[in-house]
Amino acid sequence: MDTNNNDTFRVAIVTGGSRGIGRATALRLAEGGYAVVVGYSANEAEADKVVAQIEERGGRAVAAGGDVSDGGVVRAMFDTAEQEYGGVDAVVHAAGQMRLAPVAELDLDDLDRTLRVNVRGTFAVAQQAARRLRGPGALVLFSTTVVPLAFPTYGAYSASKGAVEALTPILAKELRGRDVTVNAVAPGPTATDMFLDGKSEEQIAGLAKLPPLERLGTAEDIAAAVAFLVGPDGHWVNGQVLRANGGII
Ligand SMILES: NC(=O)c1ccc[n+]([C@@H]2O[C@H](COP(=O)([O-])OP(=O)(O)OC[C@H]3O[C@@H](n4cnc5c(N)ncnc54)[C@H](OP(=O)(O)O)[C@@H]3O)[C@@H](O)[C@H]2O)c1
Repeated sequence: MDTNNNDTFRVAIVTGGSRGIGRATALRLAEGGYAVVVGYSANEAEADKVVAQIEERGGRAVAAGGDVSDGGVVRAMFDTAEQEYGGVDAVVHAAGQMRLAPVAELDLDDLDRTLRVNVRGTFAVAQQAARRLRGPGALVLFSTTVVPLAFPTYGAYSASKGAVEALTPILAKELRGRDVTVNAVAPGPTATDMFLDGKSEEQIAGLAKLPPLERLGTAEDIAAAVAFLVGPDGHWVNGQVLRANGGII
């Protein structure tokens, strides 16, 4: 149970909560006593399932849809948290997209789409979090272990996540005095739609061998790292990029 605030229950917004890492994080935080705003883009039905699962286990949750690169949508998610649950203590920004192509063949419109969701979306969420997170609080952003691994074809995606890594310690410093931490989690290969879609069995097996722990990460592995960062045990970790990847580097 997370008891950073002694007097009230805690409230989390999880973008990308309809699938993958965001879904596992929403479920994990709800188990720890958080009321959760479950963000989604297109998959309302999946987000509703996550809400139902949390409620079945006795927790509180509400779904909130829309594109995270739209400032109004993100503002509305925070409004929902405040109206439904009285405030926001943790923001986990798991929503993201990945398109792969060698630079020579990159469609610049695809680059724009990737940057719009992964960079502008991160800024839209970070801006509201900076204004509205109450302390003790935490913002967790998402990078990727591909940033240091520098795999070919990941140029646009990795560049967008490099921006997240650059922002993380800057925002941590901007929030001096607020008792709010800002960190990024950088997963390695993790068995979600984003990783599995479009890859052959051989590619998946090869990437699963990369970590010394010799398996793919699970969404739950990453949710556990996030839960550490947003809980009292992780509160002294601030401005960092946590490479949760089974030891790839
Ligand atoms: N899986 C990996 O191996 C891996 C590795 C390193 C880093 N990451 C990062 O970890 C984070 C979570 O990835 P994942 O693997 O869980 O991805 P995923 O399974 O593809 O899920 C992506 C989530 O983001 C939401 N989303 C996508 N575009 C959105 C938008 N424009 N506005 C709002 N929500 C949007 C999706 O909503 P809908 O369901 O409505 O589409 C979905 O909930 C991402 O930032 C990703 O870059 C993943």
